[in-house]
Amino acid sequence: MSLKPSITFAKFSAPRKGTVFVLSAEGEGLAGAASACDPEKVLERAFAAAEFSGKFGALVEVLAPQGSQFDRLAAIGTGQVSELDEHAWMKIGGAIAAALRNAVEVAVVLDLPGLSIGGAEAAAVGAGILMRSYAFDKYKTKKDGNGQSTPKKPAKIVIQTAHPADAKKKFADAEAVVGGVLLARDLVNEPANMLGPVEFAARAGALEALGVKVEILAEKEMRKLGMGSLLGVAQGSPRGARLAVMQWNGGKAKDKPVAFVGKGVTFDTGGNSMKPASSMEDMKGDMGGAAAVLGLMHALAARKAKANVVGIIGLVENAVDGNSQRPGDIVTSMSGQTIEVLNTDAEGRLVLADALWYCHDRFQPQFMIDLATLTGAIMVALGQHHAGLFSNNDELAGRLAEAGQATQERVWRMPLGPDYDKLIDSRNADMKNIGGRYGGAITAAQFLQRFVKDTPWAHLDIAGTAMGAPASEINQSWGTGFGVRLLDRLVHDHYEG
Ligand code: BES
Ligand code: MN
Ligand code: ZN
Repeated sequence: MSLKPSITFAKFSAPRKGTVFVLSAEGEGLAGAASACDPEKVLERAFAAAEFSGKFGALVEVLAPQGSQFDRLAAIGTGQVSELDEHAWMKIGGAIAAALRNAVEVAVVLDLPGLSIGGAEAAAVGAGILMRSYAFDKYKTKKDGNGQSTPKKPAKIVIQTAHPADAKKKFADAEAVVGGVLLARDLVNEPANMLGPVEFAARAGALEALGVKVEILAEKEMRKLGMGSLLGVAQGSPRGARLAVMQWNGGKAKDKPVAFVGKGVTFDTGGNSMKPASSMEDMKGDMGGAAAVLGLMHALAARKAKANVVGIIGLVENAVDGNSQRPGDIVTSMSGQTIEVLNTDAEGRLVLADALWYCHDRFQPQFMIDLATLTGAIMVALGQHHAGLFSNNDELAGRLAEAGQATQERVWRMPLGPDYDKLIDSRNADMKNIGGRYGGAITAAQFLQRFVKDTPWAHLDIAGTAMGAPASEINQSWGTGFGVRLLDRLVHDHYEG
């Protein structure tokens, strides 16, 4: 893994050596503490020479300026200060990480004239540095960081701020959340030969070290519970099926839990309705929903969230074999409803049907949110910049949309209704697992809704956002970790304390 920088916070003191980052707002030039770092005014000349105007994320740097002991003096543009929200500070952290190269001794001076930069913003810069520094290079014998900088030693970054104690406290929580994001990215990036249902379940079990209660159900127990829908998907794989049930009880004993349910198809060949080769390439990532739920549980436990939270992930491999289920097979789900499996590649909903039913049956949660790389259709509808949001509850949907804006893990609400629901009625069973040619992401969501009863529920189709999404200031990896920050924020803003 790429080397993780260490991050600490300190009061302002004009740095004397190493690599120094200062801020420059759009059109403001260099002022305040920034100029205190630059007694020789070398940056000012560099600004002019580089035609640097402080545009957001822009960088101008001067190497080993004469008369100083700095190795590098760099300014990061912040754009208009009125537009600096928490996410923007995270992206500034990302821009700093992108420019670290082999620097070991690093100071970041968080000062802009006329703006008070608080502890939360400083913590966000730290979080952005950590997120951008991630690279999945564990299988590269020659570490090239996948285009990321590949320091030989971890950077020691001191963030100078007016509020170091507050920043340190808030960074502890931010670091817990980043830990969850990077865990989710790791799981999505890991190839399926290394990470099957059994190995994934073991990764869930490792959360016990953080105080999470973890139960792993194997086939026998799931069979007893009547989970014929989930088990039908798994039956073509020699690698077994698991259901991981995680509980973080940080809230009051009387509080009903909130629940998150993840699709964990560790590889999706499509089964007998096999995918063409080009569509199969990415299918090691078909457990992005489960990865997000695991990452979220990590985040909540690591920051000791004051909430009771259940995380459930259904883990299977959708493989091709003489024993794989066939199109037309009819299975009975834990709910008792029967399903005609007309397309074995619409397997995620079959896994979630039993996981969702088990979740409300056992826990009666305040709400259930499922995350799944469920349909190619959601990518056709929304591209890769929004996850699809489907919900039977306007308040929950509204809160998710707000959390999406705040974290820039954006969601876009899609419709549900009886006209769509009837598209999955079946001639031979209670329902079929595919709708018609149109509205594929919606009919998939209608299918899930048949397994949630009247529990407030939201479904996030993250097929476009969990993997292969365009690189950003805070992520350069194929697996994005989408959903962890979104749902941590939701819990933080509405379900704690
Ligand atoms: N895992 C896929 C969906 C997917 C596609 C995720 C591309 C990420 C990228 C899912 O299991 C699937 O195969 N869905 C089918 C459903 C269809 C058979 C009704 C699809 O979207 O084509
Ligand atoms: Mn599939
Ligand atoms: Zn799938």
